[in-house]
Amino acid sequence: MNILFSKTLFPNILGITVVLLLSGWLMTKADGNWIFILAIILVEFLVISIIFMQFYNKYTRPLRKASKAVNEMIKGNYAARFYNGNSEEMEELSKNINKLARNMSEITIQEQMHAEQLTSIIDNMKNGLALIDEKGYVHLVNRGFVEMFHGNEKQYRGHLYYDVFENEAMHEVVQNTFLYEKPVKNQFKNKRGLAKNYMEVIAAPIFNERNFVKGAVLVIYDITELKRLEKMRKDFVANVSHELRTPITSIRGFAETLKEKQHDEKAAEEFIEIIYKESHRLQLLIEDLLELSRLEREGFQLERQNFDVKQMVDAVVPSLRKKAEKKDLNLTVSIPSDVTVYADAGKLQQVIINLVDNAINYTPSGGSVNLTMIEDGNRVHFTVKDTGIGMEKKAIPRVFERFYRVDKDRSRNTGGTGLGLAIVKHIVEVHQGEITLESDINKGTTVHVYIPKD
Ligand SMILES: Nc1ncnc2c1ncn2[C@@H]1O[C@H](COP(=O)(O)OP(=O)(O)OP(=O)(O)O)[C@@H](O)[C@H]1O
Ligand SMILES: [Mg+2]
Repeated sequence: MNILFSKTLFPNILGITVVLLLSGWLMTKADGNWIFILAIILVEFLVISIIFMQFYNKYTRPLRKASKAVNEMIKGNYAARFYNGNSEEMEELSKNINKLARNMSEITIQEQMHAEQLTSIIDNMKNGLALIDEKGYVHLVNRGFVEMFHGNEKQYRGHLYYDVFENEAMHEVVQNTFLYEKPVKNQFKNKRGLAKNYMEVIAAPIFNERNFVKGAVLVIYDITELKRLEKMRKDFVANVSHELRTPITSIRGFAETLKEKQHDEKAAEEFIEIIYKESHRLQLLIEDLLELSRLEREGFQLERQNFDVKQMVDAVVPSLRKKAEKKDLNLTVSIPSDVTVYADAGKLQQVIINLVDNAINYTPSGGSVNLTMIEDGNRVHFTVKDTGIGMEKKAIPRVFERFYRVDKDRSRNTGGTGLGLAIVKHIVEVHQGEITLESDINKGTTVHVYIPKD
C-alpha cells in the first residue's frame, strides 16, 4: 500500500483520480447529452494517455536502456555506460551501473595483468616447467622446457606425456608421483645434438579441494655446471691425495732404510737430503693449497694500498737474481719509476715471483729471462719473457689448471707443485686483471699480466 504513496506513483495516481472525479462530475452535468459525454471521455482518454506516456518516458524507457547496458557488460564489454537524469531513481541507477562497469573493468585489467605476469614468469624462468593432468595429458610446457628439449610447444600440449617426453627418467618420475602422491626427483642425461647436458627433474602432485590428485607439475633444472663443479672437486681431491702420496712414500721409504742401519755414512747423508727435499716439497704443496683456498674463499679481501711498482718489484729481484745466476741465466729487469697502483702489493709480488720462477725453471742454462713493465692506459702491463723450452700450443690453455704440468717429471724435479699458475691466475682475476700466455716449443714463453691501476 505504501508504494501507492511513493514519490514516483503518487502524482500520477493523484492526476488520474482528479481526471476521473472531474469527468464523473461533468458527466452528471451532461444531462444525457451524448456528444458532451463522448467529448468528456475523449478528453479523459487523452489526459490519462499523456500521464501514462510521461510515466513511460520517465521510467520504462530508461529501464530498457539500463538493461541494454547490463547486457553489454554480461557480454564482457565494460566500456558500456548508461546516463539518465530524468528522475532521482534513474540517476542513482545509472550511477551505480556505471560504477559497476568501472569496477568490473578494473578487476578485468588486474586479472589480465596477473595472468600476463604469471605467463611471463613461467616463460622467462630458466628452468623447464610442464603441467600434466590426471589422465597424463600435457597441459602446459614453458619456453625453458622447449629450449631444453626440442621442437615447439604445440608438439607437447594436448598429448600424452609418454608419447612426447623422450626420456625414460621423466616417465618414471611422473608415474611415481601419481603412484606415491608425493614429490619425486630424478636425474638424467639429455642429448641435444652433440651437447650432452645433465638434468634434474622434480615432479610434485597437484591436489584438488577433495584431496584427489588432479595432475602433476614438473620442474626441470640444468645441472651440467653443478656436475662439472662436482667432478672438478672430486678430481681435485684425487690430485691432492696423489701429490701428497708421492713425497710421503719417498720420505717413509728412506726413513725405513735409515732405520735398518745397513748403509754407509755417505748414503745416509744422501737419504737425509732426499727426506729434507721431499718434506720441503710437502710444505710448499700445503702452503700453495692453503693459498688457493684462501683466494677462493667467499668474501676474500685484497689488502689494497697505493704503492710504487718499481719498489715493489725491486724488493723481490735480489732473490730471483740469485736463483738465475745459479743456473747461469741472464735476468734483466726494466721497470719505470714513479708508477703507482692501488692494489695488493704482497699478492702482486707473489705473481712476479711465480712467473719469473717458472721462466728460470723452464729455461736451460745460458738462456735469458726478461721482466718488464709498461703503462697501458689505466692498467700496468707486466711481461715475463724467457728463451726456454716453451710448450706445445695445446698445453697453453691448460697450464692455469691446478696440478697441470706439461712435463710431469721435469716439473717435479724443479720442486714444482703445479699450482703456481693457478694461484697467479686467481690473484690476477681478483684484481680484475687479465693474464695471457704465448709459447713456442724450444723458443721460449712470454706471459702478459694486466692489472688496473686503481
Ligand atoms: N715459462 C715456462 N716455460 C715452459 N713451461 C712452463 C713455463 N711456465 C709454466 N710452464 C709449464 O706449466 C706448468 C704449470 O706451471 P705452474 O707454475 O702452475 O706449476 P709448476 O711450475 O710445475 O709448479 P709450482 O706450483 O711450483 O709453480 C709447468 O709444470 C710447466 O710445465
Ligand atoms: Mg711454477
